[in-house]
Amino acid sequence: MSKTLINTFSKKLLTWHGASGRSGLPWQGNRDPYAVWVSEIMLQQTQVATVLERYPRFMKRFPTVKKLAAADIDEVLAEWAGLGYYSRARNLHACAKQVMHDFSGKFPNDPLLLEQLKGIGRSTAGAIAAFAFRERAPILDANVKRILARLFAIEGALQDKAVNDRLWQLAQDLLPNQPKDMPVYTQALMDFGATWCTARKPVCMSAEKKCPFAKDCQANLSNQVLALPQKTVKAKSPEFDCDMLLIRSGNFVLLQKRPSKAIWGGLWSLPESPWRPRSGKGHQTDQDPKALLSMTLPEENIASLAKSIKGLKPSNQIKHIFTHRRLWMQVWEANTSKTIEFLSPNLKWVPLAQLGRYGLPQPIKILLLGLSLIRGGDLKN
Ligand code: ADE
Repeated sequence: MSKTLINTFSKKLLTWHGASGRSGLPWQGNRDPYAVWVSEIMLQQTQVATVLERYPRFMKRFPTVKKLAAADIDEVLAEWAGLGYYSRARNLHACAKQVMHDFSGKFPNDPLLLEQLKGIGRSTAGAIAAFAFRERAPILDANVKRILARLFAIEGALQDKAVNDRLWQLAQDLLPNQPKDMPVYTQALMDFGATWCTARKPVCMSAEKKCPFAKDCQANLSNQVLALPQKTVKAKSPEFDCDMLLIRSGNFVLLQKRPSKAIWGGLWSLPESPWRPRSGKGHQTDQDPKALLSMTLPEENIASLAKSIKGLKPSNQIKHIFTHRRLWMQVWEANTSKTIEFLSPNLKWVPLAQLGRYGLPQPIKILLLGLSLIRGGDLKN
């Protein structure tokens, strides 16, 4: 291992950040652990440009951990709508409660304790500890893994335990000595990975900019930059079909609350059939209305709905790509003259004018906008 690089890395990176790092983002320079935590969770799977728009709004709505813990989960999910990966919003809410109950409303500064909280992994715990408390705690997100795998020419798959352990050790060894440098250093690592040592167009491969580590980087010196870190071949994600009902009754539409543990957990959506592995046949246009209703709604309501429902016909088909699944949703439209009463609190006739206030999955929101059932002006998001 390069002893000199271990000793000089943090200083060089801090200098790099002064000249080329990102600054002026609304969550930077804020040492309130609550504000830091919300920004880190939001930034995990959402682009900086989107977070720039949504983060200030979230903080205005839930300005303290106390307010977030006291809020209803539906309010939190509705505020999160459109950001995706909704388990983040559910964990955010659960974590706020943990902080209130187990830590008297104050985030702990020890990364090991932070990591015990809902939705906070080891790297995020390190980031919060570094930004909010100047703890000498390392981070190791995908960008940092790439930087380190290149600097030290680490071969092997990143998921491999031995490789992962080695990367964490390096991340620890490279930290600056002075705790005061931790916030800028941590941001600099993130920025360097996101903007200079990128996966496909690292600056060392172009003539425009000069990487401060060009002479230290083992991958650069051995012409392996694009080969590291080693890529893992991803299996194609499985495809599924499902049917969805868009049942209208005058100015009302039937919505179903999704189970909390499922995809889009806790959001309101259109009633949906179970998913079937995609057969390649697509949807069945000769779908029997009663069979369709039985797959989608509680048994006790089928008979009365089947009687009152008119004009059940296939409308849009929507394809949605999740991280590990692809889903084809066949929407079926129908009208009914009466709003059947449902026993289940998860089924609700919602006035069209109020649709915009519900936390809806993004593709469903787009569908309803496209059909002019939601007006742009009614939207919260
Ligand atoms: N991704 C995760 N945390 C981040 C941060 N603090 N700045 C920019 N991107 C990030």
